Amino acid sequence: MRTMESEVSLPSSSTARRVSTLNRNDKAYHVVLAQQFEPGEIEQLCCLADMIRAISSSRQGTQFLVTLLNHRRAMLYFIQPSTRTFLSFSSSCQVLGMRYNSVRDRSTSSEVKGEAEDDTIRVLSQYFDLIIMRHPQEGFAEHVANMLNQSTRPIPVINGGSGKDQHPTQALLDIYTLFRSFSGTQESLIERRYLQNPFAGKTVAFVGDLQRGRTVRSLTYLLCKYPGIRLLFVSPPELQIGDDMLEYVNRNQIEFEVCDDLRSRVGECDAIYMTRLQDEHDLAGESKKIDYYKFSLTSDLASSFKHNLAILHPLPRRHELDTKLDTLPQAKYWDQVRNGMWMRAALIASIFNVDIAIRDHYHAYYSY
Ligand code: NCD
Repeated sequence: MRTMESEVSLPSSSTARRVSTLNRNDKAYHVVLAQQFEPGEIEQLCCLADMIRAISSSRQGTQFLVTLLNHRRAMLYFIQPSTRTFLSFSSSCQVLGMRYNSVRDRSTSSEVKGEAEDDTIRVLSQYFDLIIMRHPQEGFAEHVANMLNQSTRPIPVINGGSGKDQHPTQALLDIYTLFRSFSGTQESLIERRYLQNPFAGKTVAFVGDLQRGRTVRSLTYLLCKYPGIRLLFVSPPELQIGDDMLEYVNRNQIEFEVCDDLRSRVGECDAIYMTRLQDEHDLAGESKKIDYYKFSLTSDLASSFKHNLAILHPLPRRHELDTKLDTLPQAKYWDQVRNGMWMRAALIASIFNVDIAIRDHYHAYYSY
């Protein structure tokens, strides 16, 4: 069992200061860092996502939801490729009646005429009430949040993926999927499901390119809030998760192990979080030398799976997750995609303070 010997170098007060500029009234206003979320808020968001899901199942409920934010407009500023994150954010805006527009290619913006990106953002903030952004540069979403805090028209920003750094809304939908897998899915349990820590005694393995996968970093931040969880980081040695993350895990007194052998560890896992090789970040094709097959979940491993294992993948996948596994009850990655739409709708509802109206509506018509 590996534990870190050194104490963490990053003073937690610096994270606390960053979080305090992003939150309002003790909840996320700008959504930029996974560290903004404590178990209480995570549980409330999961609960709200379940309620939106339940309300959306009827025509009358759908018609109620679209009245909530039909006076608001969102900008989806996605200048890095995206399928799921873009479509689930646009769908979640539609669930709440919010209109949206998008910029997906810098070549169509005045940035090609030399406009500074900060000015582009300032312009967007004059037309829209929310900016949801995916950007190749680490820290840019946080910079935008700070800039908007000083602006004449301050509006919230949501980070839909920032370079190799963070992807907090993916982490929220991942933990929502894990909650649902570990504690049952009956709607009648909505209020009770999230009261306990379902992660105590559970082993969660992260597998693949852990050094450059932003989803792994963000989900690790969240899972470390749950005492009694055990984490396995399974990757090629050259793609191991950063020491900053291992220090964070250690500081939170979470048991963890770093290893490079997936096949012998599958049987002890309650959840396996697969990731693809992030070779778009290669500087000179260095990851071509890596035998990624060793970090693939193949159908011959299924006989070792625990009965209630949850297999997750943020997608897109390549060959590291065998399509033959797709129909197994342990495959949760398609549920994960749909969960993202409900979780992102919950997050937007919470930012705009329409969560109370959703809870009231749920209790009036759907709880039993
Ligand atoms: C991930 C991302 O963009 O970081 N995908 C996603 O948002 N669902 C993972 C990846 O690209 O590998």
